[in-house]
Amino acid sequence: MPRLENKVVLLSGGASGIGAATARMVVREGGKAVLADRDEAKGQALAAELGAAAHFVPLDVVNEESWQAAVAATVEKFGAMHGLLNAAGVGVRNSIEDCTLAEYRRVNDINSLGTFLGCKHAIPAMKAAGGGSIVNISSVLGLRGASYAMAYCASKGAVRTLTKNVALHCAQQKYNIRCNSVHPGYIDTPMIAPRLDTNVGNMSGRQALEELHPLGRLGQADEVAHMILFLLSDESTFSTGSEFVCDGGLTA
Ligand SMILES: NC(=O)c1ccc[n+]([C@@H]2O[C@H](COP(=O)([O-])OP(=O)(O)OC[C@H]3O[C@@H](n4cnc5c(N)ncnc54)[C@H](O)[C@@H]3O)[C@@H](O)[C@H]2O)c1
Repeated sequence: MPRLENKVVLLSGGASGIGAATARMVVREGGKAVLADRDEAKGQALAAELGAAAHFVPLDVVNEESWQAAVAATVEKFGAMHGLLNAAGVGVRNSIEDCTLAEYRRVNDINSLGTFLGCKHAIPAMKAAGGGSIVNISSVLGLRGASYAMAYCASKGAVRTLTKNVALHCAQQKYNIRCNSVHPGYIDTPMIAPRLDTNVGNMSGRQALEELHPLGRLGQADEVAHMILFLLSDESTFSTGSEFVCDGGLTA
């Protein structure tokens, strides 16, 4: 039996990288995928490729009305909403000394506030569906620090703990809605592409990032999507408020 049969999943950041890989798996496993992204060209193209089980909606995760419209469009298109993946995000390098206030706000707005808004507006739709599963993508940099990623670490740490808050609230209210965070290591997606071709000492950027992982390589988007698929499905019904790490041993 398909693992997501008849489940409708809204995916922020669904046009690229981990979100796109998860959308493909949702459709392959019998579900419906609503790709929600600010990149309309990529999102429309992927939705067209995936066919009738997929749909694109424009979304800017920092805008509350945009979230309300995306959730409403999901329910209108497929009749209900059972899953939410918060994958939209931006990766930026800066230290406490060179991170400007504007950049700190921009990164935290997209990565953290965007996830807050997604959870907030998904809950009423999931309650109406009798329950659901929310998956928030944090990072290994939501579990530990890195001096070169000030704004990013702060935003992903917030995703880690806001996930627990959502999980506890929904459990206490008996909504049958679960919420978990996923913490990838470095994954070979467009987000990190600019770093791969730079030079770090006598190594390429790619080699330097590969060396951070005991498995000796970068992760692939599908490897994270498999973990997300488990969390979206009914295979994970006793997991909520938890951190799921997918990092090639980096944090070990
Ligand atoms: N790639 C990695 O190494 C890595 C590691 C850990 C965590 N993550 C996290 O995984 C998630 C997915 O990243 P990815 O690697 O697939 O990157 P990606 O750049 O391939 O995809 C990110 C998507 O988010 C969208 N997006 C950005 N800002 C948006 C906004 N304001 N509104 C709507 N959509 C917006 C982009 O258009 C893009 O489609 C991000 O939250 C990222 O921080 C990535």
